[in-house]
Amino acid sequence: MKNHGYFVTGTDTGVGKTCVSLGLMRALQRLGHVVVGMKPVASGCRQTSLGLVNEDARQLQACASFNLPYQYVNPYAFEAAVAPHLAAQADGVYIEIPVISNACRQLTAEADRVVVEGIGGWLVPINEKQTMADVALALGLPVVLVVAVRLGCLNQALLTVAAIRSSGLPLVGWVANRIDPGCEQQDGNIATLTQRLPVPLLADLVYSDDAVWREQQAGRIDLELLPVA
Ligand SMILES: Nc1ncnc2c1ncn2[C@@H]1O[C@H](COP(=O)(O)OP(=O)(O)OP(=O)(O)O)[C@@H](O)[C@H]1O
Ligand SMILES: [Mg+2]
Repeated sequence: MKNHGYFVTGTDTGVGKTCVSLGLMRALQRLGHVVVGMKPVASGCRQTSLGLVNEDARQLQACASFNLPYQYVNPYAFEAAVAPHLAAQADGVYIEIPVISNACRQLTAEADRVVVEGIGGWLVPINEKQTMADVALALGLPVVLVVAVRLGCLNQALLTVAAIRSSGLPLVGWVANRIDPGCEQQDGNIATLTQRLPVPLLADLVYSDDAVWREQQAGRIDLELLPVA
């Protein structure tokens, strides 16, 4: 399946993928694109009158260029905030990639760009055989990597980039997210990755408690640094 847009992965869970995904959607919309967002697999969802709802998926749904049915934005929603294949197992569900591809097809029927947020990091298992990397591959999207700038991130980022490369999907850019104000040598870490990663640094997000401002920063991602999505 060939789609136009980006798959957003991260060095870990809780690194700023949602913020960057929303920023990419806004940046694409500013260029005049009709954009949809997707969080194919989510754990840690809350029970509502409409069923299980994930906060990331809800934000991506709200950011889209037109109204999207929730079940296509987030076809797999689990209540337990644990690894997705374990959450699925607990609910008696088997995550199937064709279901995700079909949901994406429905969303993109009226759109020209899709931004897909992964869950956790690149190689998070989704069932007994496959990982999120297989989802990205099935959707055929170029990858944007979000790096949480903190101690240990160099190894995590380089391992992730090696794994993305071995999947055959193109990595097109990365975002530095200064998520830990106590991290020493933040500039040194970012400079090290800038030198070693073969793709452009799309944004350098500073630490802020203000979610709205964080999203505005991410929305300034320079899409001209990216190959045409
Ligand atoms: N630049 C930042 N400054 C301050 N806090 C941040 C920053 N970026 C992210 N955070 C905080 O870190 C948390 C994780 O961010 P976010 O939800 O975007 O990560 P994620 O990678 O999408 O997580 P998940 O794996 O749960 O989808 C958020 O609650 C947010 O408050
Ligand atoms: Mg998220």
